[in-house]
Amino acid sequence: MAAKRDGLPAARRAARHVLVLHGPNLNLLGTREPQVYGRDTLHDIEEQLTALARELGISVESFQSNSEGELVDRIHTARGHADVILINAGAYTHTSVAIRDALLAVAVPVIEVHLSNTYKRETFRHRSMIADVAVGQIVGFGADSYLLGLRAAATLLKQSVRRSSSGARVARSARKRARSGG
Ligand code: DQA
Repeated sequence: MAAKRDGLPAARRAARHVLVLHGPNLNLLGTREPQVYGRDTLHDIEEQLTALARELGISVESFQSNSEGELVDRIHTARGHADVILINAGAYTHTSVAIRDALLAVAVPVIEVHLSNTYKRETFRHRSMIADVAVGQIVGFGADSYLLGLRAAATLLKQSVRRSSSGARVARSARKRARSGG
């Protein structure tokens, strides 16, 4: 049985919840290499995300951990609970098969974000274990990468609601046709 939120099984409620995951060292934003990552703290970013989510009519929940296992556990709880995962896996982006596998296992659409443009930096940052299992990737816009990512998530959610309501319409008219024998 899928996990419930708002008292409805995941499959039956309107799609609209985004889980935002932050990987290692992102708790230090604001003071960590500000020339690379900017001066916004994680708390500032989370406040901006909450305000934007309200504007977009979706809900958002953030989780940060420095531990790979905790991030994997949190991804597992997203099944039947979150409709999109927005993730900045920090350095685990470049190394973690476990995070990649967890994202594949829960089969929730993923948007990858990075504050810095990882492709302009050391070559070990050019490889992402997440990029090819994500719907898309946004890099290099500082804190705005998260906000752009949330906007992309809202667009995905709108598209999936539209698809499922047109799917329901097709099913209804097929049932009608079957009942009338045509
Ligand atoms: C980062 C880029 C990673 O290479 C780095 O290890 C981070 C932050 C970013 O947001 O730019 O921790 O994910």
